[in-house]
Amino acid sequence: MQNILSVQSLTKKFDDFTAVNSISFDVEAGSIFAFLGPNGAGKSTTIKMLTTVLKPTNGEIRINGFNVLKEQDEARASFGIVFQDQSLDDELTAYENMTYHAVIYKVPKKERDERIRKALEIVGLWDRRKDFVKTYSGGMKRRLEIARSLVHYPKILFLDEPTVGLDPQTRKAIWSHIQTLNKERGMTIFLTTHYMEEAEAIADKIAIIDHGKIIETGTLEEIKERNGTGTLEEAFLNLTGRDIRDENGASMSKMRLMGGMHRRRRH
Ligand SMILES: Nc1ncnc2c1ncn2[C@@H]1O[C@H](COP(=O)(O)OP(=O)(O)O)[C@@H](O)[C@H]1O
Ligand SMILES: [Mg+2]
Repeated sequence: MQNILSVQSLTKKFDDFTAVNSISFDVEAGSIFAFLGPNGAGKSTTIKMLTTVLKPTNGEIRINGFNVLKEQDEARASFGIVFQDQSLDDELTAYENMTYHAVIYKVPKKERDERIRKALEIVGLWDRRKDFVKTYSGGMKRRLEIARSLVHYPKILFLDEPTVGLDPQTRKAIWSHIQTLNKERGMTIFLTTHYMEEAEAIADKIAIIDHGKIIETGTLEEIKERNGTGTLEEAFLNLTGRDIRDENGASMSKMRLMGGMHRRRRH
């Protein structure tokens, strides 16, 4: 099988702090790849580098054969991205959000309406296209972000925590849309999630990152066998520890000892 994504020695430093520490991995075309790790492990920073939002300190990324740093336009045309934080315009309708995105991605004008209709149908939002996004529930906004990421027909879709904070029914619906894209359109899926059962249910291959380093990678069966566990969650906890981390990756128990002092702040 051909690799649609290939990452070599990828590193990101913020001043003297190394958020992503020389990671390497490949993703096969047509597969579902789950990128897991505790809070602050480096998942979002990695996705941001893969999708040209952040410039790596070091390393190489190839998407669909294109060098992401040197052939940005071609690489960008090859992927879709759903960020961890909501990125819709609440003051526009769903349809207007879709159009805005299609224009940015230079979707030919005569194809625009048809592609938007198809994408909204996939996530079940065609009937709600004229509603303002501010009237949408959290789950509907997520589905709209997924629809938006599909308008330029990406070969690979990056999803950063697509189901976080959603109720179980909505989470299920979102995974079913994602699986449809994978199975019926052959779209490669790269996702992060905090829900181990979700990764367990849909991922062909899993990588676990902690403190910026990939500490485990393989199929579900390989990871369970190597770690002598019955579930992915058990393996994950054995590998990453049971301490609760805040969003910067600091251990909460250590923080308490430090008087709740924050070591680092975001942005
Ligand atoms: N812009 C930034 N400046 C400084 N530190 C950052 C920045 N973005 C992320 N970090 C730090 O990098 C680490 C990894 O963050 P992130 O990739 O968001 O983790 P994850 O998505 O796995 O929860 C965290 O310690 C975070 O605080
Ligand atoms: Mg994140």
